[in-house]
Amino acid sequence: MEQLNQVLATSLDEIKQLKSLQELEQLKARYVGKSGAITAFMQKLKDIAPEERKSFGAEVNKIKTQFEDALNEQKQSIVAAELERKLASETIDVTLDGRGAKNGSLHPVSLTLERLVLLFGQMGFRVASGPEIETDYYNFKALNIPDNHPARAMQDTFYTESGHVLRTHTSPIQVRFAEKQTPPIKIVAPGRVFRVDMDATHSPMFHQLELLWIDKGISFANLKAVIIEFMRKFFEDDSLQVRFRASFFPFTEPSAEIDIYFAKAKKWLEVGGCGMVHPNVLNYMNIDANEYSGFAFGFGIDRLAMLKYGITDLRLMFENDLDFLTQFRGH
Ligand code: PHE
Repeated sequence: MEQLNQVLATSLDEIKQLKSLQELEQLKARYVGKSGAITAFMQKLKDIAPEERKSFGAEVNKIKTQFEDALNEQKQSIVAAELERKLASETIDVTLDGRGAKNGSLHPVSLTLERLVLLFGQMGFRVASGPEIETDYYNFKALNIPDNHPARAMQDTFYTESGHVLRTHTSPIQVRFAEKQTPPIKIVAPGRVFRVDMDATHSPMFHQLELLWIDKGISFANLKAVIIEFMRKFFEDDSLQVRFRASFFPFTEPSAEIDIYFAKAKKWLEVGGCGMVHPNVLNYMNIDANEYSGFAFGFGIDRLAMLKYGITDLRLMFENDLDFLTQFRGH
């Protein structure tokens, strides 16, 4: 009995030192496993005199239970300590500074487009659109540019294998819209256009905006009034000088190129083309040229954005460099 109590005392001391569940399992095996120290006393039972066997057996069981209780208690405190440690190491310091979320910003082309639609909207023009992959008919023929017309060479066209074209200008939207409507027609048609061209001032894809106004009695005076008013509003300069230079487009007659005087650079800059809608084009639109007349106006949105924001290289508009783009935040 003395030996047994000695073993228990030692085991209880050892239990108190346990730090991990692994150590705990090892210790358990050493005492109550198959050849454990406490188990050994059970095996001694058969050598003991029968009259003492019962009380000795009860003692061994009591010791074993004490051992196991102590072990379980230690187990719980190990598990609790482990949890504490884990919670402590995984805490989130809610007082730390945040990483901050970056705000995006609109591309200068989008900003300009929004403004254009707004300004023309104030003058009563509604937005129309058309497909980027066009038929030869809408991109050329219905705009009075028949097969083999030299004007086709003016526009370096991308052709698809199926015989379609990537629209070279937004003018096809004029015909698409007008052929289904009766005048008055008053639209702006912005969109992507494509030409085989690329350098500091040309990109194979760029943006144009087309204006079309058809009604009874529309004259070149209306064209001038709308364009001058628009340019002055867009550049926020009431005395901006606008010049109309005689030019040629197959789909307008007479035609003009529009220049604005860029005071900062002390020079005239070309910003677009315009003219009175050619009677042949009105025919393609199913509009009676004796009754109605109209004007069209087309220009590059990217170019206008560059002038407005003082951007000097067109390629910047398509590189999507964040340092460049974020400068337009808040415009
Ligand atoms: N479509 C012409 C171009 O891309 C511009 C234009 C539009 C000219 C409307 C006259 C009238 O060059």
